[in-house]
Amino acid sequence: MSEIPVITVDGPSGTGKGTVCSHLANWLGWNFLDSGALYRVLAVAAEKYDLARDNEPGIAELAESLDVVFDRPQPGKDVTVIFEGNDISQQIRTEECGNSASQIATLSEVRSALLERQRKFRQKPGLVADGRDMGTVVFADAPLKIYLIASAAERAKRRYKQLKQKGFSVNLPRLTADIAERDTRDSQRTISPLKPADDAIVVDTTTLEISTVILKIEKLVRETLPDACSKC
Ligand code: DC
Repeated sequence: MSEIPVITVDGPSGTGKGTVCSHLANWLGWNFLDSGALYRVLAVAAEKYDLARDNEPGIAELAESLDVVFDRPQPGKDVTVIFEGNDISQQIRTEECGNSASQIATLSEVRSALLERQRKFRQKPGLVADGRDMGTVVFADAPLKIYLIASAAERAKRRYKQLKQKGFSVNLPRLTADIAERDTRDSQRTISPLKPADDAIVVDTTTLEISTVILKIEKLVRETLPDACSKC
């Protein structure tokens, strides 16, 4: 087991994971892994290199050599993503890209190819990891695992607002259907499905303001990892 602590935050899209994680990483001064961004970049790369979404060996090979750099985001901002020297931070945030990412994420060779790359983010003083299988597979030994949930209707509303704010054109009924499709695919795939780890703390954010969710999670961090909080 590594001595470097990890806080895993998993859950479906629209539960507040991204905001919570970028806040925690800045608050603690820890590293940040947005694993969804990694799957999204890979989807962009597969399209660039004309690989069909079910070309498992081709996409796995691409995953091994993917030229991508991430920067810890400012609180409330998305991670900066530089792919082959180009900033694609905005491009990867569309719902279409999320859907392609969810499709390639069902391929077991692809998930294996990304495993070590994700684990390398575990650097001192600690890591906040955002995703679907952070607590169950990638960092199964993490000392604090959080699993966020919210009703489907509330998540669709939040995603709609987020995408609008980013300047994307969105249609709420279509977005609601896309999210439902993505939830089903992510939670029913055979490899590393979206689900809470047995030792995860589940937080339902449906009726909570994001500031309240953050306070709740800061409290959990103080209780579970008092040393991590000596400076915060
Ligand atoms: O968190 P996100 O919406 O950016 O993730 C996009 C897709 O990537 C998600 O629908 C499923 C996949 N994903 C995954 O399978 N495992 C992860 N750890 C993170 C994301």
